[in-house]
Amino acid sequence: MLDLALHRLPRLPTLAVRGKRVLLRVDFNDGGQGGPQAVRYRMEATLPTLLWLLEQGARVGVLNHRGRPQGRVVPELSNAPLASALADMLGQPVEFIPDCIGRMAQIAMQALPPGRVVMLENTRFHMGEQLNQQPFAVQLAQLGDVLVNEAFACAHRTQASTTMLAGLLPTALGLQFVHELQQLERWKNAVRPRVMVLGGNAVLDKLELLQRTLTSPATKVDLLLLAGVVGQTFLAAKDLNLQHSLIEFDAVDLARNVLAEAGVLGCRVHLPRDFAVARRAVPGLLAGHRKPHGMEADDMAQDLGPQTLEVWQKIVQESPSVLWFGSVGHWQHRAFRAGLRSLAAALQARTTPPGGLAIVAGNGLLQSLAAEDLLAPLRQAGVMISTGGGALQQILSGHPLPAVQAVLQPA
Ligand code: 3PG
Repeated sequence: MLDLALHRLPRLPTLAVRGKRVLLRVDFNDGGQGGPQAVRYRMEATLPTLLWLLEQGARVGVLNHRGRPQGRVVPELSNAPLASALADMLGQPVEFIPDCIGRMAQIAMQALPPGRVVMLENTRFHMGEQLNQQPFAVQLAQLGDVLVNEAFACAHRTQASTTMLAGLLPTALGLQFVHELQQLERWKNAVRPRVMVLGGNAVLDKLELLQRTLTSPATKVDLLLLAGVVGQTFLAAKDLNLQHSLIEFDAVDLARNVLAEAGVLGCRVHLPRDFAVARRAVPGLLAGHRKPHGMEADDMAQDLGPQTLEVWQKIVQESPSVLWFGSVGHWQHRAFRAGLRSLAAALQARTTPPGGLAIVAGNGLLQSLAAEDLLAPLRQAGVMISTGGGALQQILSGHPLPAVQAVLQPA
């Protein structure tokens, strides 16, 4: 895995913020698709940083993006509802400012008393954000004296408010951001055997991560449990016909290579032994359980089956170090959350030995766990729940995070 250079990161406590206008970049993104509980989790994860800033007497303007509006104003992607949600959480008013640059935003920031917060409008309503344009970053910089980046979840994106702006204002990373990096650093030294449960879709994007997972001494895992479209695509690479199940055909050949490599490199790959299936025409209804070689013409795999879960639960429960990335099962249908619940139960039942740890990550997984009210129990069980998906994938694939590169101090 990449050297995370933790000792060179500018930390929050080193930043002078008393009476200063602080731009706090967060990631309360829901992709424009709702998922309020998952967003709430991301908001709560930001609270320690926000409260610290307020206690210090900072005047805080919150920057955030929602969805992918491509530089246009899309009312459904406004940050306005987030201002009220944040106000409820903080127990103080949070004024919403209907732009994140310009005169009105400048006046609002100037007039803000110490210990108070305003929420600025979606940064992606301006093209300059995703194009990382300097004129836009300069306009953002006019609003603040310092920048605190607490947006780990979009640290893999090169955006004006997370990268270019860091070159224009004194910047520190937020407490949660640093915590996320620290946990990934711990993963590098986590005791073995190490297990990775990899699910979700976007299989091609995950192949690099898989390859690194097999070859890089820092992130090497001993067991790989492949679920979701990833698992199905790997079964297709073994020439199994999963009928109407989702397969990423472009990734099948590369999946074959990964399977061959895993064998040589001593990593045991577990693919689903059975599935909970639905009929193609009724995707939300459980039609039965099938083995991969026994799928009927109209079947589509929607979740892991009981035989798979029995084995996987035991593996997860008994492994000192577990990283679960990406959702299992088509959890949007309640009938297909058995895999999610079983693996979460295994994490809860596990005792972490010294040097071990359990991390769960990925947007879909975060949303699915939130939908089943499993976030709090998992945290109580000592599981680290990452706020990120793509950012974590980028690190595990061996690539630097642009938002971290932007703040690294010289060695
Ligand atoms: C996320 O929610 O994963 C981040 O905010 C990144 O969002 P994006 O994929 O739209 O850039």
